[in-house]
Amino acid sequence: MSIEAVQFKNALRLWASGVTVVTAHAPEQGPRGMTATSFSSVSMEPPQILVCLNQNTDTGALVRETGIFAVNVLAAAQQAASNQFAGGATQAERFAALGWQLSPAGAPWFAEALVSLECKVVQCVTAGTHWVVIGEVTDAVCRGGEPLLYFDGAYRGLAPVAG
Ligand SMILES: Cc1cc2nc3c(=O)[nH]c(=O)nc-3n(C[C@H](O)[C@H](O)[C@H](O)COP(=O)(O)O)c2cc1C
Repeated sequence: MSIEAVQFKNALRLWASGVTVVTAHAPEQGPRGMTATSFSSVSMEPPQILVCLNQNTDTGALVRETGIFAVNVLAAAQQAASNQFAGGATQAERFAALGWQLSPAGAPWFAEALVSLECKVVQCVTAGTHWVVIGEVTDAVCRGGEPLLYFDGAYRGLAPVAG
């Protein structure tokens, strides 16, 4: 028997994470992007990562269609971008509000992200409402800086650990 939805949400919100924006691009549609915290490293050899994307999202559909996507790890100063890419703005407004360029294979990389990965879809597993998208990392730009974090339903920043 599954646990109740509220109990599930209350449990999962206690998992701290960074914040990413997953992006894709097609000449006819332009850029698409969505905020996603469901990012994880998967394998070193070959280099693979995963993101879990709701099947109802524009970005998820374009990732599947093009087979190419980027993962932009947001900096502490990019809280507004996170909210916009989580549905607070149209796709055109989201991309007009920040600097970006296409990666060599054609996925939007954010100029101010801590790191931008370029990935090729190698597997897309349907899991409930979401697709678990596994991507092979084909390129990366590391810029560094302070990360934007998400925990217990709120944005956070790094703080020194006591002791
Ligand atoms: C902090 C945060 C993390 C999120 N993580 C995910 C995620 O991992 N996967 C997902 O499908 N949606 C996630 N969402 C929701 C999507 O960002 C949101 O549904 C999507 O951007 C809406 O895009 P649309 O308006 O183009 O449909 C998250 C939202 C927030 C605020």
